[in-house]
Amino acid sequence: MKNLSTKAGVLGWPVEHSLSPRLHNYWLKKYGIEGSYEALPVEPEKLAALLKALPVQGFRGVNLTIPHKEMALKIVDHIEPLAQQVGAINTIIVREDGSLEGRNTDVFGFAQNLRAQQVDVKGKPVTVLGAGGAARAAIVALREMGAAEIRLVNRTREKAEMLKREFGDLLPIYEWAEYPKAFEGTSLLANTTPLGMKSPETKSPFDLSALPKTAVVTDIVYTPLMTGLLKDAHARGHKIVDGLGMLIYQAQPAFKAWFGIEPEVTPGLRATMIEAL
Ligand code: ATR
Repeated sequence: MKNLSTKAGVLGWPVEHSLSPRLHNYWLKKYGIEGSYEALPVEPEKLAALLKALPVQGFRGVNLTIPHKEMALKIVDHIEPLAQQVGAINTIIVREDGSLEGRNTDVFGFAQNLRAQQVDVKGKPVTVLGAGGAARAAIVALREMGAAEIRLVNRTREKAEMLKREFGDLLPIYEWAEYPKAFEGTSLLANTTPLGMKSPETKSPFDLSALPKTAVVTDIVYTPLMTGLLKDAHARGHKIVDGLGMLIYQAQPAFKAWFGIEPEVTPGLRATMIEAL
């Protein structure tokens, strides 16, 4: 079945606040592709039926956001190994034969956001705050980037233990209250918890004094762009990498797969996205 349409979108519940339509439609316009990318609210119970209908509805593919990323993994026909490791997919590609391929481009997005800022963690220890779905993508990315050790700091120890059972000795666990120990000698601090989201006034609970001056600090939260954590890190002279980059870079391979063009990440695109934050 040859798919000549240029339809894509993001499925979530709720999904109205997704910034993905703004991002993909910017690129569609820039490259003169007559296509569309919409936010589509889908209740969890209806996800399977909707995904199965994508080929006949003329979709090239979709992105998935909360709460569909894990469930969709069980529905698609093919899964890339990286997505299997994360246990979640954020991108579906409708293949020419009408089957669905699931990928996880959050891993690429997290890694590329760091690489674009010349952050190299190869052979070095790094620290991850959180042990949820976003942490899993960050961990797979940091492992791919060759981090020597991924220190896990999570409020609920059991959740961190679960990740350690899966990823092994690469992941030493630190108690939430003992986070400064994990900060010592680390080359990167990555927040994957929602702490700091939509609360520019809220101060970050972390004292960064144990961080080496050379440590890079990154946050997957991008509303606000300058989270309390990033503000504190900036004030201490650390290099910071904000979370908007991850959102933009995770979209790059999806756009390429659906529309055949590798879209550029430019200051103009960033500015367009910042307007919507
Ligand atoms: P996601 O899949 O989007 O990463 P999640 O699975 O709910 O979301 O995970 C969120 C992570 O942020 C978890 O590690 C959670 O800690 P717990 O394992 O203790 O639940 C962490 N988190 C959320 N709110 C937090 C808070 N107020 N303080 C500390 N950690 C928090």
